[in-house]
Amino acid sequence: MWWENEFIKVRKRGLFLGGRSAEKIAERYGTPLLIYSRPQITANYETLLRIFSRTSRLPLRVCYAMKANPHREILRLLRRHGAWIDAVSPREVEAALRAGFSARRILFTGTSLSPADLRRVFRIDGLTINIDALEQLELMQELKNKEFRGKRVRVSVRWNPGIGRGFNPRAITAGARSTDGTPIKFGVEKGKVLTVLEKASSAGFIPVGLHQHLGSGWVDDDYEVVSAAVDRIIAMAGRAEKEGFPLEFLDFGGGFGPRYQERQRVFPLARYAAHIARRVAEAGLGIEAIAVEPGKYLVADAGVLLLGVQYLKESYGLLFACVNSGTYNSLPRPAIYPQARHHIVHCGRVYDRKMKPVTVAGNLCETGDVFGKEIPMPVPQRGDILAVLDAGAYGRSMASNFNLRDIPREVFV
Ligand code: LLP
Repeated sequence: MWWENEFIKVRKRGLFLGGRSAEKIAERYGTPLLIYSRPQITANYETLLRIFSRTSRLPLRVCYAMKANPHREILRLLRRHGAWIDAVSPREVEAALRAGFSARRILFTGTSLSPADLRRVFRIDGLTINIDALEQLELMQELKNKEFRGKRVRVSVRWNPGIGRGFNPRAITAGARSTDGTPIKFGVEKGKVLTVLEKASSAGFIPVGLHQHLGSGWVDDDYEVVSAAVDRIIAMAGRAEKEGFPLEFLDFGGGFGPRYQERQRVFPLARYAAHIARRVAEAGLGIEAIAVEPGKYLVADAGVLLLGVQYLKESYGLLFACVNSGTYNSLPRPAIYPQARHHIVHCGRVYDRKMKPVTVAGNLCETGDVFGKEIPMPVPQRGDILAVLDAGAYGRSMASNFNLRDIPREVFV
């Protein structure tokens, strides 16, 4: 099947996860259950390194966007592989440190930061703080003067290149406004980047990098805009160097996704990597490394959510498989973003001659609480197990106890 990988395979018409029958796993641990695969994460990480090393002479820093899934075992695994970290809150920074990352390998990219947030991260030696606004820098400056005088803090600038791209309007993080009109809060606008660098440096901070993040969930169609934004950040870095701010790294952010749906054409990662390498070389930048910040790419397809069917409901000609978890408690994406589609597989009968469109409905009091709408599958019966694919990213990390329902247990195979 199009969704099979190292971790997820079809055997004897049934779903196998890490070599074990999904139904047996469900029997042993119960449902709902989130299952992760270390080998799949490793494979994704290595693929990414291989793709970039084919064209770039510069070392690649893979900064794992831990907001996708901050599970301690995932952090530790990626640390062993040599990853870096993209952290967005003081607690993420602290969790990364606990998982063994050195502060030197953590880039902290916050937004709307409070003095308390900043105090917490200033205390950590070696961390790099990404500046999201001139006004954030002013807060940092005040705090430094009052409480951290003389401290050498590495900083970078998150700029907003004026264009962005993502799988839905809420997942576009650069540009002035998103495609639905929402004003975009992230990053320093073009005309203020040099001012931020100058002010940071005269306040005693050490500028080391320039960063952008355009959005999340790119597919093939997004390439044109994304590569244009690569050109923009490289031009900006060239200007910064000319003005006397040599940079150690350029960070292109995350955004490249897994294949969530069959008809999706994935983002051309090799072309992207080659484009970055070529443009960096042409610009003659003196940087030491390039960085990317994948979340979804590393962990989405390394996670599966197993759900137990409680009963099959027919209503007004529609078929509902009513399952024992809510989207908001385990994988809120399909409830939050209309464009987020997760493929769902009937674990015992992956394919059958007779398929029907089945809506997989959760156990919350919300109409939007459906894991998948009218997905073709063999009609499930009470007690059957369904697998929601690509549940490794932004599942558990965005889950809540809404309706006072439990968050599923997480296990590794
Ligand atoms: N870097 C920064 C600064 C980010 O804000 C993000 C994601 C990433 C990297 C990683 O993006 P990725 O490679 O995972 O696409 N909750 C949404 C995704 C929003 C992500 C926001 N920032 C979802 O479930 O699709």
